[in-house]
Amino acid sequence: MVAGLGHELRQPLFAVKSIAQLVLQAPEAEREALLTSLLEQVGHMEQLIEAIGNYSRKPQGPSIVDVDGVLSQVRRWLAPRAGRLGLSLRVVGGAARAGSMDPVALTQILVNLGNNALDAARSRVEFEAENTGSEIRVRIHDDGPGLSVSSAQAFEPFVTTKPPGKGTGLGLPISRQLARDNGGDLVLIPSDVGASFELVVPLWVPKG
Ligand SMILES: Nc1ncnc2c1ncn2[C@@H]1O[C@H](COP(=O)(O)OP(=O)(O)O)[C@@H](O)[C@H]1O
Ligand SMILES: [Mg+2]
Repeated sequence: MVAGLGHELRQPLFAVKSIAQLVLQAPEAEREALLTSLLEQVGHMEQLIEAIGNYSRKPQGPSIVDVDGVLSQVRRWLAPRAGRLGLSLRVVGGAARAGSMDPVALTQILVNLGNNALDAARSRVEFEAENTGSEIRVRIHDDGPGLSVSSAQAFEPFVTTKPPGKGTGLGLPISRQLARDNGGDLVLIPSDVGASFELVVPLWVPKG
């Protein structure tokens, strides 16, 4: 992924250089528009570096985590954005307490999935946590158009259908990697409407 990052950064970097050269020669009236697109490119580079930076933070390893508690916190964080978009955000849970995962990784995965769902939803996003007795399954569902790329593609690094400055294509691959690093997994599951992802969180097993 890091090798890919260099390649991904070259495009906006080249754009920044070209736009800066244009600004030097542009009449005053055109500069504002050029500088705005220059800032967009810089913003995109920032997002790429931030996404990789978050991932490459020193992993803490799995520990006991209150999955319902993390879900409530994630809901509070996403609520302002959902509100601005006029979307309802619901968490269904209550039985999914002791999971085994790095809490920061779990939070990052759920924020990534929540933001994707908010990007796509028509009216609502729902998180649902279930304890099956052998693992905790957290499903994130939205009522948007569903995926326009294959599941395999969506989990590839740098694959994004969002405009520059909006998407990095790193949310899903990093989330899946974090889940697997913690003994869990992240998959797309079939749904009639919109998109549904399922995060598997191993149960916490107290040591004897
Ligand atoms: N809930 C969703 N509904 C529709 N498409 C989605 C959803 N989540 C992810 N995708 C698709 O998968 C792509 C990759 O997602 P992601 O890795 O998070 O990157 P990004 O969000 O930066 O584009 C998105 O650009 C989008 O095309
Ligand atoms: Mg994303």
